[in-house]
Amino acid sequence: MSYSSSTDIRRNASPFLYGDEASSVARVLESGQYGHTDVTEEFERRLAHYLRVPDAVAVTSGTAALHTALVAAGVQPGAEVIVPSMTFCATVQTILAVGATPRFIDIDATTLCVTPDLIKEAITDATTAVMPVLFGGRAIDLTPIREDLAHRGITVIEDAAHAFGSRNPDGTGFVGSDNSVLTCFSFGAIKNLTCGQGGAVIPRTPDEAHTLRRLRLLGIEQSQSERAETTTYQVGGFGLRYPLSALNAAIGLAQLDHFDETAVTRRRLWRAYRTALSGLRDVPLIDVGADRAVPHLCQIRVPRRDEVFAHLRKAHIGVGVHYPPNHLQPAFAPWSRSLPATEQAGEEILSLPFHQHLTEADIALVVHALRAALEATTITPQA
Ligand SMILES: Cc1ncc(COP(=O)(O)O)c(C=O)c1O
Repeated sequence: MSYSSSTDIRRNASPFLYGDEASSVARVLESGQYGHTDVTEEFERRLAHYLRVPDAVAVTSGTAALHTALVAAGVQPGAEVIVPSMTFCATVQTILAVGATPRFIDIDATTLCVTPDLIKEAITDATTAVMPVLFGGRAIDLTPIREDLAHRGITVIEDAAHAFGSRNPDGTGFVGSDNSVLTCFSFGAIKNLTCGQGGAVIPRTPDEAHTLRRLRLLGIEQSQSERAETTTYQVGGFGLRYPLSALNAAIGLAQLDHFDETAVTRRRLWRAYRTALSGLRDVPLIDVGADRAVPHLCQIRVPRRDEVFAHLRKAHIGVGVHYPPNHLQPAFAPWSRSLPATEQAGEEILSLPFHQHLTEADIALVVHALRAALEATTITPQA
């Protein structure tokens, strides 16, 4: 059976534009200044204001944010960085980019996130940083190991690519507002907040903000506006070319104006899935903690996932898999180890279409198709 009546359920993810992104970009095009301009700086101020944090440093992508954060944290070649295997490969590639070694760890099976105990078990004398991934938008409570990490001088670099707008586990503030961690966001095309492409690092101190800004601009000390006033500049250290362009920042500024609405819609749709799926047995929903999270993914576990995936794709339902485990990837084989929960999740997780173009009726169609796929694969769907 084909569910081609709704094109929205054919897509696993999709950006959602509110309409004023186009005029925001047009203003930048008309200005003739597309690079790192005061529009980028305005986006940084507005981001910081939204998250109630002192500062935010905008860069070209979430990958650039993680890379810059690792360099700013002083992670050197040969150092060990603890990272879950269950993440997008970008997290791991940034560890390799600084010459460090990924130490893959397992996840909690119900949340797909790391836990304080799993991190603690993996710490060695070589551990310099830990990169928890806020999977699907779920914030992670590191309270039990926070002091220990600080005592050992281990930096926490949160990969919050999925988690813009989510609240911290204690409910006190947004992800990014805990100033004992360096938080990295992605504003890629399908993220909760999109710049088309972009990212940001939330620094812990003003000094760190300065370092991050120097790093993202080829090591140059002066800001764009300071440079316009002088005939020279000073290259104070190593640097990359990662500043967010004004064109991308303009999209992000328009998106920020509507972000409260985005958060409400994504929570409503995630809960609609939860209700619709409650009638199915053997397909548990991955718990993103929707009371605090702005959900980024809607994932279930399903037996014989590859067959169910094929059935749903044939019915034009945009299912996906986030993610094939990294420790099983050829590029990361030297650091592979046995991670049972991750390996099982790698075989069972299935991401249902999840984006803001969906309606409750679309969700009912997806779940109807899932039920049919389960029946076709002789998995009993009735509760
Ligand atoms: C968990 C995770 N980390 C990092 C990234 C990298 O972000 P970007 O695509 O903006 O470079 C992504 C992007 O999908 C991601 O999902």
